[in-house]
Amino acid sequence: MSHYGEVYQSWKDDPQTFWAKAAEGIDWSKPWDKVFDESQGVYGRWFTGAKCNTAYNCLDRHVAGGRAEQAALIYDSPVTGEIRSYSYAELLDEVAAFAAVLKKHGAGKGDRVIVYMPMIPEAAIAMLACARIGAVHSVVFGGFAANELATRIDDAAPKLIVSASCGIEPGRIVKYKPLLDEAIELSREKPSACLIFQREMETAALQEGRDFNWAEEVAAAKAAGEKAECAELEATDPLYILYTSGTTGEPKGVLRDNGGHMVALKWTMSAVYGIEPGEVYWAASDVGWVVGHSYIVYAPLLHGCTTILFEGKPIGTPDAGVFWRIIEQHKVAALFTAPTAFRAIKKEDPEGKLIGDYDLSGFRTLFLAGERADPDTLQWAEDKLQVPVIDHWWQTETAWAIASNPVGLGLLPVKHGSPTVAMPGYDIRILDESAQEVATGETGAISVKLPLPPGCLPTLWKKDQRFRESYLEAYPGYYQTADAGYVDEDGYIYVMSRTDDIINVAGHRLSTGGMEEVLASHPDVAECAVMGIADRLKGQIPVGLLVLNAGVERDVSEIEREAVLLVREKIGPVAAFKTAITVKRLPKTRSGKVLRGTMRKIADGESWKMPATIDDPLILDEITEMLKSRGIAH
Ligand code: COA
Ligand code: AMP
Repeated sequence: MSHYGEVYQSWKDDPQTFWAKAAEGIDWSKPWDKVFDESQGVYGRWFTGAKCNTAYNCLDRHVAGGRAEQAALIYDSPVTGEIRSYSYAELLDEVAAFAAVLKKHGAGKGDRVIVYMPMIPEAAIAMLACARIGAVHSVVFGGFAANELATRIDDAAPKLIVSASCGIEPGRIVKYKPLLDEAIELSREKPSACLIFQREMETAALQEGRDFNWAEEVAAAKAAGEKAECAELEATDPLYILYTSGTTGEPKGVLRDNGGHMVALKWTMSAVYGIEPGEVYWAASDVGWVVGHSYIVYAPLLHGCTTILFEGKPIGTPDAGVFWRIIEQHKVAALFTAPTAFRAIKKEDPEGKLIGDYDLSGFRTLFLAGERADPDTLQWAEDKLQVPVIDHWWQTETAWAIASNPVGLGLLPVKHGSPTVAMPGYDIRILDESAQEVATGETGAISVKLPLPPGCLPTLWKKDQRFRESYLEAYPGYYQTADAGYVDEDGYIYVMSRTDDIINVAGHRLSTGGMEEVLASHPDVAECAVMGIADRLKGQIPVGLLVLNAGVERDVSEIEREAVLLVREKIGPVAAFKTAITVKRLPKTRSGKVLRGTMRKIADGESWKMPATIDDPLILDEITEMLKSRGIAH
């Protein structure tokens, strides 16, 4: 029997008591004045008046409480062949020493520190070191190019940047330092220093006076016995900024606080994931994404678990059995990854033969998120692994699941295609365009009645007005998720599509508007449109349509190649932008809006209706022919 119904109702009846009880899982140096203070912030703030430190709750209290020798973090890197484990005591030492280095270089409470790192333990150490001294980290995913990094540097205005000499992608070394140098060159807000971790496969050239060698700095701090103590912070002080794609090229700086974030994440480890302290929990994501922040670093450590930091891919490092090898070797109880990883494994090993080579008897649950879990993939995982496979839905903005099947409260029946039900904290309503609730089973805008629960963004970094405009104004009194879907008669939520120009490529959230801005900067391009079309492996991939300036006589295939390269250079390889197609003109409504949705339906082979407002219906025929000739529409 699931207790979900009771627990959800108890939250609904008295949210403040519910969260105050959850807050008992955290050590506070001063208790809160109010659990929720609606007079503060844009829509209210959680745990006002309380004082705390996130790194203390992740590390120090476990060391003091008997977990000093337990593994806190296991780094497993099939791309380098290295496996390294840090006990809680060791991780605390590394974090305290690096925090002292950050302080020595001028970072203190409230200062921003950009972390541009591959998946190595030092990435987590840097995040926790910032948390320790109250500096606000902003991790930038390694697959973004210099230009994207520069945009984030300008917005966050960091005092320091922490980076490494390189990342490793299958078959190539990604040199980070030239990208970092270019980004600093491009940005207005120059950091006062950079701390660079030199990896043995690539030594970066350090700039005298600005760049410092991580290992040397930490060794000196340790030799001098320097350790930074935990700063006492307000629960409402910022822990981090994480940039995520908006509808334009300008990313949104999602802000996270300390207190509410700890309370919510700690609660999810038992209620949502059904994990006990001391167990091994693995989120196969990247620290550059919210999943990595919440479930590689913060939640497992807050809960006293062992977390796995994986530097590899689900296939090819060395094969589609790497997930099973890690589960067996490190005794993983729960794995969290994106459906695309399972699609990749399924493609490589359709029979799941490699699964049989490993002992997965300790493995209890698979969690999927980041994109809709397609029923085929879900079914395959259930059949092959013989454990519950839980699709859950959330966003960078929320930091934890809006909807899930709460394993720790007792599983509800799984319905393929649905991430199950609203978690306590989220009062979900499906709204029509005039903010009225639609009937059960009808599709509309999935919205959350304010206030958002602890852990969710209180605002965007230094941009309260943009926060209001982007999330709160469309449906007054609600947070607009920008996802569309419906709720069925059992209260199960179905998340079907985004309502904005965001696409989801291999579980990565990308802005088609951002790609259009880059394409439009090509000197030969007059107009363009980017749409996300269905892809069997990555869920969606971007395709760009280009209209060239009148009189351009260059070879179009060359221009298309340049366009592809431009997106890779400006946004990064993670955009997976590989197809640009030149067309004569774009289909538009009479008011000039490009009909991206209709073109996407044509490309995906879905049924579509001629929009009544179309300016010239013939253009859609031209586009269809063009897509067919490129093997995109059938
Ligand atoms: N640094 C530099 N480049 C990176 C990078 C990083 N951290 N991460 C990815 N890239 C590059 C890849 O090398 C690839 O480059 P290429 O065009 O030269 O091949 C490009 O970005 C696209 O990467 P990706 O979308 O990851 O595709 P892939 O073909 O390398 O791998 C999968 C396909 C399905 C195996 C892979 O997408 C995957 O593991 N997905 C899991 C998704 C996930 O963890 N999502 C996080 C949200 S939970
Ligand atoms: P991100 O902010 O990168 O985590 O991306 C969030 C977006 O990914 C959501 O708004 C959804 O569009 C999509 N998403 C994440 N998880 C799911 C899921 N389980 N089902 C459907 N869509 C999802």
